[in-house]
Amino acid sequence: MKLHTIALGCQMSEADGEEMSQTLQARGFRPARVPEDADAILISTCTVRDHAEHRALSLIGSLKPWKQQDPRRVLIVAGCAAERLGESLRKRFPHVDFVAGAKSIESFPQLVERALGDRFDAMTESREAFKEADIPAASAVCSHLTIMRGCNYTCTYCIVPSVRGRELYRPAEAILKEARSKVDAGAKELLLLGQTVNSYSSEIDGSPVRFPELLRLVDKTPDLARVRFMSPHPHYVDERMMAAMAECPSVCEQLHLPAQSGSDRVLKLMRRNYTSGSLLAQAQSLRRAIPGIVLSTDIIVGFPSESDEDFERTLSLVSELRPASAYCFKYSPREGTESAKTQDDVPREVKEERLARLNALCDTLTEEALKSQVGKTLEVLCEDSGFGRTRGGYKVKWSGRSTPGELLKVKIAGAARRLLVGESNEP
Ligand code: 5AD
Ligand code: SF4
Repeated sequence: MKLHTIALGCQMSEADGEEMSQTLQARGFRPARVPEDADAILISTCTVRDHAEHRALSLIGSLKPWKQQDPRRVLIVAGCAAERLGESLRKRFPHVDFVAGAKSIESFPQLVERALGDRFDAMTESREAFKEADIPAASAVCSHLTIMRGCNYTCTYCIVPSVRGRELYRPAEAILKEARSKVDAGAKELLLLGQTVNSYSSEIDGSPVRFPELLRLVDKTPDLARVRFMSPHPHYVDERMMAAMAECPSVCEQLHLPAQSGSDRVLKLMRRNYTSGSLLAQAQSLRRAIPGIVLSTDIIVGFPSESDEDFERTLSLVSELRPASAYCFKYSPREGTESAKTQDDVPREVKEERLARLNALCDTLTEEALKSQVGKTLEVLCEDSGFGRTRGGYKVKWSGRSTPGELLKVKIAGAARRLLVGESNEP
């Protein structure tokens, strides 16, 4: 039986999709590249913004003919949108066989097994033929590794805490074991994932292992070239974390620092627990501790009551922060969140105009950041022939041959719109 997996949305939903598909593969499913070849489709959904949820809903709708072609086919909808919408999804889309919310990921295989009953047994009859070692493990050069789930923060605009629940940390030993097995399967780079990844906290033999210690332990994984992590919360970006980043050879000189707004008034309404001043001070310390560090950020425009003046403060924060890339969003009220109780009073046109101004500024900063790399010779990890990333996270394209997983020195000859262009390494 063949399974096709589709992840829509953030990296967490991608990682969840991978994890769920691997647990099904362990029970006898084989991966299918395209829906037409699949007996089952698993959709890992996101609901952080209305737009992400809409994409999931229209994909589910578009799969009706796929299901009608052969009613024995199985459609599974999992993840955050599944958690939020629950069984109402099946009422709206009767061709969905099974809905598994984001909170049930640990028990996902058992839930699928129970929900599909005999059909599951029939689908996995080849299970005996499948040994653990045969599972096409995540052999990607860059591999995801979830270290924690959920979020203890209560940012007033955010639906994540209600769909994913409170923080749960995976034991450090399990993380280190998975890191080793991913590297054995061919990974050169690991992306440690968590909703507030740097609030991680656990212990080994009674000694505390917080995020900085975890970085130091993962860094020791033999043959691991690079470590990145997503998404840190500024609140936990402290000196210990900076020191670990600076001292661990594999930890890349890159950090996503989600600012959300530059107005202290709005930050307070968002309940972000920092000010624009403290965030900029952090960025300065990061740049001092980790020379060449490349920063990126997330910004929301049009939060309820955001004035022109608040927005101007966001523009100045971004100008000072100088992120090499930024993900900018229009505020989207999510049902059940605290801010959804206040009126979404910034008109759509105003949100759009602010987003366009902010994007224009961010595009200029991206261009400047890319140009600052021209002329340098950088270490690039090849992900595909002639394509890879620098330690700072810049994408690089060059003409020449290279094998995925190879670490090369590439001289940067120029910059295109969103990537660097390397000199050819052809003989
Ligand atoms: N509206 C707009 N953007 C949001 N984000 C989270 N919730 C919302 C919302 N309700 C953005 C934040 C977060 C990113 C993952 O999505 O910028 O960092
Ligand atoms: Fe949402 Fe805030 Fe938690 Fe991030 S830290 S997941 S924005 S509640």
